[in-house]
Amino acid sequence: EKGPYAHYMMKEMDEQPGAIRRLLAEYVDEDGRVSIPEDVRAAAREADRIYIVACGTSYHAGLVGKQLLESVAGIKAEAHVASEFLYNPPLLSERPLFVFISQSGETADSRGVLVRIRELGHKTLTITNVPGSTLSREADYTLHTFAGPEIAVASTKAYTTQIGVLAVFACDCARARGVEVAFDVARELSLAANAMEVVINEKEKMESLVWEYLSSSRNCFFIGRAMDYYICLEGALKLKEVSYIQAEGFAGGELKHGTIALIEEGTPVVAVSTQRAVKHSIRSNAQEVIARGANVCMISIEGLEEAGDALVLPKVHEALAPLIAAVPLQFFAYYAALYRGCDVDKPRNLAKSVTVE
Ligand code: M6R
Repeated sequence: EKGPYAHYMMKEMDEQPGAIRRLLAEYVDEDGRVSIPEDVRAAAREADRIYIVACGTSYHAGLVGKQLLESVAGIKAEAHVASEFLYNPPLLSERPLFVFISQSGETADSRGVLVRIRELGHKTLTITNVPGSTLSREADYTLHTFAGPEIAVASTKAYTTQIGVLAVFACDCARARGVEVAFDVARELSLAANAMEVVINEKEKMESLVWEYLSSSRNCFFIGRAMDYYICLEGALKLKEVSYIQAEGFAGGELKHGTIALIEEGTPVVAVSTQRAVKHSIRSNAQEVIARGANVCMISIEGLEEAGDALVLPKVHEALAPLIAAVPLQFFAYYAALYRGCDVDKPRNLAKSVTVE
């Protein structure tokens, strides 16, 4: 039930800190360490490469997951769009583990890959919000995201909890393989949940930024580097899906290879800066578009902020920054849809779960 909320999307965005805390409670053992079931851990330990397969927002979570698996656990990982996988299959390693990410667990494109992978005899894990779903039943293992029912077509809390579970998975895989993790993921996830709450409480600010940057635009660009690039892909998908503003997320360095031609006086560009290694390069990308007339909305994180930034996010561990950077982009999409009179919870032409290929 929506309760006092006008839209499920707003309710579900607000529920995100609680959802992260819930999943944390489910995955923390009595020693206060995150842990996944032993059979899943064993499968991850035996794998020489992890192939993540998903669609849409879940694919965007998969990109963050791939990054976490490689950087935190030292496991080779790839993320693939399910609808492309069968037609453009990668060469498989000797002992692959397939990870399907799906809020609904019913997405036909992902299921098509799962069926094929099972025929090939490889191990499969589904990360889903619906444990009894088709993808969950048909995979060898399941990790539940504990987001609670997500009704709005636009995925919000399902996405952030997928990232939360992927962080838990990556850290546990690291331990299983004897790789030392430099941070306490349980603690950092809990701090990230608190930080999400702080951002969520800045609704008025986020609403006014939408008014300032997006109220009269037909299009919008999102730029980021490293992990922020993945957040930009998700921010753009969210915006176009619910507000019908044409949006594109791309890597800051790709600007000059084509997209910059689209920048003109007043074009809104949302730039995200949460990753220390690229803090200078994303700023210079922002300058490049400002010089061509773009209206840059800079979202940074404490420690990397500069005077004039539109929004400064509270500090969280850099590996978990996607959790918090995603939040304002979700709210941007929500308020933009509201201003434009769109049906926020049920955007045109879309279904919550896409059960045809
Ligand atoms: O249920 P799934 O996670 O498998 O769904 C995948 C996509 O259809 C879904 O994430 C879609 O992109 C969302 N509507 C985006 O908000």
